[in-house]
Amino acid sequence: MPVFTPPRRLLFGPGPSQIPERVYQAMSQPIVGHLDPFFFDTVEEIRKDLRAVFGTRNSFVHMLSGTGSSGMEASIANFIEPGQKLAVFVGGYFAERMVEMGKRHGAHVVRFDKPWGETASAPEAAEFIERERPNVVAFVHAETSTGALQDPLSITGPAQAVGAITIADCVTSLGAIAINVDASGIDVAFGATQKGLSCPPGLSPITVSDRGIEVLKARKSPCSVWYLDLKLILDYYEGGHRYHHTAPITSFYALREGLAAVREEGVEARFTRHKQAHAVFVKRLEAIKLEMFIQDPAIRIPSINTVRVQEGVDDVKTRKRLINEFGIEIGGGFGPLAGKIFRIGLMGPFANEENATMVVGALAHCLRE
Ligand SMILES: Cc1ncc(COP(=O)(O)O)c(C=O)c1O
Repeated sequence: MPVFTPPRRLLFGPGPSQIPERVYQAMSQPIVGHLDPFFFDTVEEIRKDLRAVFGTRNSFVHMLSGTGSSGMEASIANFIEPGQKLAVFVGGYFAERMVEMGKRHGAHVVRFDKPWGETASAPEAAEFIERERPNVVAFVHAETSTGALQDPLSITGPAQAVGAITIADCVTSLGAIAINVDASGIDVAFGATQKGLSCPPGLSPITVSDRGIEVLKARKSPCSVWYLDLKLILDYYEGGHRYHHTAPITSFYALREGLAAVREEGVEARFTRHKQAHAVFVKRLEAIKLEMFIQDPAIRIPSINTVRVQEGVDDVKTRKRLINEFGIEIGGGFGPLAGKIFRIGLMGPFANEENATMVVGALAHCLRE
C-alpha cells in the first residue's frame, strides 16, 4: 500500500502556520472518550492556558468545535436577537464576513467603512457609535487580509458608554499578539488554533465577559444556531459536563500541547519574539527596496507582514517559484488587494530573526528574473 506523504512545506503564509513536532506527537496519542475524567482535566488545562493568552480572568472560556469562522458565527448568533442593531467596523475581508453573518442572523447591520488597510481612529469610532447607538459592536483586531491592527480601546470605550456588547475577531492575534481582553474591555473574543498558536485548524477558542454572560442568559429568543448555542454549551460547564456534542479529542490534544509550549516560553516572551521577528523582517525588506503595504508602523500586525507587489511583478508566478524552489508558502492579496500585496506570516516557531532574514532572501531571489 503506498504511504500517504503530503509535501513538506515551510508555512510562511497568513495561516495555517508551522506546527511544532511535539504537537504532531500529541495528536498521535490514543483518544479517550469525551466524557472521560482525563478529558475533563485536559479541557480545564486548556482553558487555564487560554486565559493567559487571551489576557482574561473570565470564567467562560471555551473551545468551539470548528475553525475561526465558527467563533465568528457563535459570537454574532448568540449576541444578536432579531432586529437588533449590529455595528461593524470594516476595513478588510473578514469584517465583511461579519457583516454577512449579521444579516443572516437577522441583525440590522450598520457599518463604518475605511479603505482596506486602514483602521478606525478613536474619534471616528466614538462618533459612529454615539450616532448609531447599536446593541452590539464588532471589529477585527488583526485583519489578515490587509495586515492592519485595530486598537480595541478606541472602540470598546464608546461601545460601553452606550451599553453595547463588543465582539473582537482575534483569529490572527491569538497566541502571537497581546489582546488583553480584560484591560481592553472586550466582551466577546474568539480566535483560532492554526495561526499564533501553531496548531492545526479545527477549534475556535472563545471567551465571554461576565456582562456578556448576563446578556446571553437574558436572551428572549433562542440562538439561531443550535450547535453554537453558548447557553447550551454553558450547561456543559455548569451542569456537570452534560453532553452537548462529541468533542474532537485529537484537536484538543493538539491544542493542549501547543498551549503548553506557549506556557513554557512565557506569554509575554512569545509576544516580544513575534515583534522582534517583525522588526527584522521590515529592516531586511527595506534594505532590498521593497515596501510594507501598511504605511503606519503603529498599526502593522507583527505576525503577518503585508508587502507591496512592485509594478510589473507577477505575484502568482513569484509565489509559485517560492514553492517550487524553496518549498515556501506565502499568501497573496484578494479582493481589492488581489495582485497588489504578498502576505508573509512569521508565526509560532517561525517568528525569529533567522527565518525573517531567510524568507526575505528567498523572496528577493524569486523576484529576480
Ligand atoms: C481575521 C480572521 N477572521 C476569521 C477567519 C476565519 O477563520 P477560519 O478560516 O479558521 O474559519 C480568518 C481566517 O484566516 C481570519 O484571518
